[in-house]
Amino acid sequence: MSDLHIDGDRLVRRINDLATIGPIEGGGSCRLALTDEDRDGRDLVVAWMTDLGLDISMDGIGNVVGVRPGRTDGPPIMTGSHIDTVRTGGRYDGNLGVLAGLEVIETLEQHGITTEHPFAVAFFTDEEGARFQPDMLGSLVYAGGMGLEEALDVVGIDGAVLGEELDRIGYRGTSPCPGSAPRAFVELHVEQGPVLEADGVTIGAVTGVQGISWTELAITGQSNHAGTTPMDLRHDPGYVAALIASYVRQLAIRMGGRQVATVGSLELHPNLVNVVAASARLTVDLRNTDEALLGEAEADLARFVAEAAAAEGVTVEERTLARFQPVAFDDRVVDTVAAVAAELGHSVKRLPSGAGHDAQMMARLCPTGMVFVPSRDGISHNPAEYTEPDDLVAGADVLLGSMLALDAMDLSTTGAPDGSGGASTDGAEGAP
Ligand code: GLV
Ligand code: MN
Ligand code: MN
Repeated sequence: MSDLHIDGDRLVRRINDLATIGPIEGGGSCRLALTDEDRDGRDLVVAWMTDLGLDISMDGIGNVVGVRPGRTDGPPIMTGSHIDTVRTGGRYDGNLGVLAGLEVIETLEQHGITTEHPFAVAFFTDEEGARFQPDMLGSLVYAGGMGLEEALDVVGIDGAVLGEELDRIGYRGTSPCPGSAPRAFVELHVEQGPVLEADGVTIGAVTGVQGISWTELAITGQSNHAGTTPMDLRHDPGYVAALIASYVRQLAIRMGGRQVATVGSLELHPNLVNVVAASARLTVDLRNTDEALLGEAEADLARFVAEAAAAEGVTVEERTLARFQPVAFDDRVVDTVAAVAAELGHSVKRLPSGAGHDAQMMARLCPTGMVFVPSRDGISHNPAEYTEPDDLVAGADVLLGSMLALDAMDLSTTGAPDGSGGASTDGAEGAP
């Protein structure tokens, strides 16, 4: 197995080719889900899948799966990720996982290797959740965590309706949602954080994904003249929004551990120098690897928001944009990734993922894991995102080796994920 290697030049060339679609200053890409740029990126990847002779199918939410047959029929060993980006996307986030999946298949093809089970590579719709919430929407629908109709009705930050955009770009398919369970799922992704680089480690064997809580807060107050309104008579949504933005930082620092908290979007209306704002809208992103602690952070924030609103005399409407429990990956897949990486001579570290990934949804359906490669300076969701070509190749080789090892493994003992969190049930997840 260790003799088999993907073609690094071809992988890097495809990453760079895809990055030219929706190019932005600094070398990154903007392909927000279901925009024209996303469609053009999809067209390119589908053309590559077609060149490889894959059996391509598309489901009702626009997830695209390409399958290469094995000696036997049945569920495939699947890999994949996403090709949509945030507005300030790098060229590796998601794209690496999809294009490395093509590499796995092309390498098998070139070496005339037939696997026992079919091999599949997928790209899932709207992983980023930057335009349509929740994030990981396509894989969530694939895994049955959100109904197709509900997902098609989601309204984006620009007022667009997801289903209409899917039709507009020609990517509403006919394969059923939820999709069928693969035999196993492994996703290669850039770490998007600083851990592997800091430790001088090439391969991350990802143990799971932390829980995610996204809330939108819409604050309404009394718009007024900035010069004439006495300070004690103000009902200023901008002030309350600023208090909340500052509080979430303090909250995360006070909780410590793996708690992180971000206000990534904050808008005032009418947003003018001499007007006390009429309204403010902000988002809060809370994450923790521990579900109970994430719940505490949510409760703490809710308490603070209520107090701050009451003190200023403004009203606040809260809307859950995304809520996912932490997910633990299947030990057999994590162990396989670690063993294959070691066999290929790479340093390995087991670590949880700070970012959300399609694999966390696929973990509901089948034994699942992920491979990470280092991100320079831990930077992501930024055009400066960068991973050394050698590390990209190492990750793709580990993906290939892991898929082959899983192909040969008896995974029938439990079939479904173990009880340690892979099959997390997230209640109201994703319900906007
Ligand atoms: C999605 O990629 C996220 O982690 O925000
Ligand atoms: Mn990603
Ligand atoms: Mn991302």
